[in-house]
Amino acid sequence: MSRRILVTSALPYANGPIHIGHLVEYIQTDIWVRFQKLRGHHVVYFCADDTHGTAIMIRAREEGRSEEELIAQMSQAHQRDFAGFSIGFTHYGSTHSEENRELCAEIWGALRAADMVVERDVTQLYDPQAGTFLADRFVKGTCPVCRAPDQYGDNCEKCNATYSPVDLIDPVSTLSGATPEPRTARHLFVQLEKMHEFLNEWTQQGDHLQPEIANYLQGHFLREPLRDWDVSRPAPYFGFEIPDSPGNYWYVWFDAPIGYIASTQAWCKKAGEDFSRYWRDEQTEIHHFIGKDITYFHTLFWPAMLKVARFNLPRKVHVHGFLTVGGEKMSKRKGTYITAETYLQHLDPSYLRYYYASKLGPRLDDLDLNLEEFAAKIDADLVGKVVNLASRSAKFASKTGLADAYPEDGGLFARAVEAGEQIAEAYENCDFNRAMRLIMELADAANRYIENAAPWKLAKQPDSQESLQQVCTVALNLFRQIAIYLSPVLPKLAEQTERLLGTPIRQWSDAGQPLLGSAVAPFERMLSRVDRKEIEKMIDASREEEADRGTQTFEDSDQPLKDEPLAAEITIDDFVKVDLRVARVVAAEDVAEARKLLKITLSLGGDERRTVFAGIKQAYRPEDLIGRLVILCANLAPRKMRFGVSEGMILASGSGGKEVFLLCPDEGAQPGQRVH
Ligand code: 2FM
Ligand code: ZN
Repeated sequence: MSRRILVTSALPYANGPIHIGHLVEYIQTDIWVRFQKLRGHHVVYFCADDTHGTAIMIRAREEGRSEEELIAQMSQAHQRDFAGFSIGFTHYGSTHSEENRELCAEIWGALRAADMVVERDVTQLYDPQAGTFLADRFVKGTCPVCRAPDQYGDNCEKCNATYSPVDLIDPVSTLSGATPEPRTARHLFVQLEKMHEFLNEWTQQGDHLQPEIANYLQGHFLREPLRDWDVSRPAPYFGFEIPDSPGNYWYVWFDAPIGYIASTQAWCKKAGEDFSRYWRDEQTEIHHFIGKDITYFHTLFWPAMLKVARFNLPRKVHVHGFLTVGGEKMSKRKGTYITAETYLQHLDPSYLRYYYASKLGPRLDDLDLNLEEFAAKIDADLVGKVVNLASRSAKFASKTGLADAYPEDGGLFARAVEAGEQIAEAYENCDFNRAMRLIMELADAANRYIENAAPWKLAKQPDSQESLQQVCTVALNLFRQIAIYLSPVLPKLAEQTERLLGTPIRQWSDAGQPLLGSAVAPFERMLSRVDRKEIEKMIDASREEEADRGTQTFEDSDQPLKDEPLAAEITIDDFVKVDLRVARVVAAEDVAEARKLLKITLSLGGDERRTVFAGIKQAYRPEDLIGRLVILCANLAPRKMRFGVSEGMILASGSGGKEVFLLCPDEGAQPGQRVH
């Protein structure tokens, strides 16, 4: 049965470029959309620029132009980048549109009618020179708790205290340098608590959310009364003025998700479609794809707003994790903050689409882009396994065309038809990693077939021309099945396959029927191996971009951090995960085969023993260690080493070799005691 499906990706902010972190989501969504279309469903895919808020207002001011001019330019750049990655939106709108303004007013009216809006005074810092209230990150000052200077308005990076910007000592506006003053203004709040029962049910039942998300909401929000949501900001603010509250504007997060509906409406007007079929007809399934950082807005506020205003509720909110590069947060300094534009100047977008697909699962795990693995995977899977099938057979088949009857292939084609259902199920569940694995298994089997049949040998034997045609007919049909299954991920490869075999790929079930008796076009190169130098250039260019913006990097300064730059930032929550304990060395022995290692047995009090391999041989004799107290990182995951399993790490300092000094706990410390 054909489904009607409306899909969205989160709306990117108009104040910055699209980068490879954003692309995880757009590629994920686009793959899902293309898959559903291939299955014969009616699918529309909407997005828009998220244009409102203080940041855009300030940037436009700094650049001496209107917000409208700025967002028009950003929208163009975003759409160009998305097109470069074959992200196929049905419509790309803007939250700064008449449709959005009207829809905001409609939903607002519904919230008022449901008696869910209340007013309260809020005191915020105000910059008299810039003439605006200051969001927390536009204020700096001295921490009221530890007195560290130069801290942001909401929390202290030194002592991690959280506070209100009005509590900062000697606050300064980062916009103008002026001293801000507290001012009180009326704000409008939505009483979300009135929807508590509905949200309990919607989030916990009906498979609208991944189980981790449902549990998170239950544990963090739904156990207690839901707090009122401050949805207004006083002028000046770039956004929509609230019709029944002059001088106040809807907060950007109020109008942003409404942008999903507005983008649909703009398309309906343009395409002559009936809007009510999409947002006011329960036959339509609405699927939102978002990152985990904006879960809260999409799973509490948003369904509540839709419910009150009687729009369709989402069928599912699909939440994904963040991108890391080489195991770390993207970093401008390291050149791993790579914009879509820079990527496209160096590498083929199909690579990233496939790599992300091979890493994306249905859960919320973060996804790591490891550039060596990236290059190796593309070369091995796409070039070595997939495109190779065509390149090794097409050149022969282009002379003869495909055979008229499908030859004996040992059941390969039939098996791939069967696997199609499992692959489809994996796509449906956003388990693209599994889908890619299943497809690569088919490619492996097809490659084994070609390897055995060796068409290149047959081509040299004049009396084997019929077998050659048969072998190429099998190889190209197996290739086409794979290209069909991969087409949600690699639409360009699907187009190349259509041209090669002179037959369009219209639906998933096309993989069920072999092509026979048709011509084969001359083979055109489909995909090249990854040029490692281009990866390096891309990283360098990403570094340079930052230098161009005038930010000093460690590379060009004299800082001691030069040789060993700081690792990715961690939060205090990360830090406190490290459990340090006092431990006593009860045995120590040399690991003869290892240059640096001693095998040390530690007591953590009572019967608790740990074996640790420590690289301190050059600094300590085993017998000198016995009886000593040391500090152990006790909750480090056990690590399998050549000589055994190491169950923790002993803390030491020094430059290495003989210069290693074990950190000593206080006299009188007890084994097992936690060190803070
Ligand atoms: O987090 C962000 O990048 C927001 N601009 C996402 C908005 S999604 C939707 F609600 F509009
Ligand atoms: Zn502090």
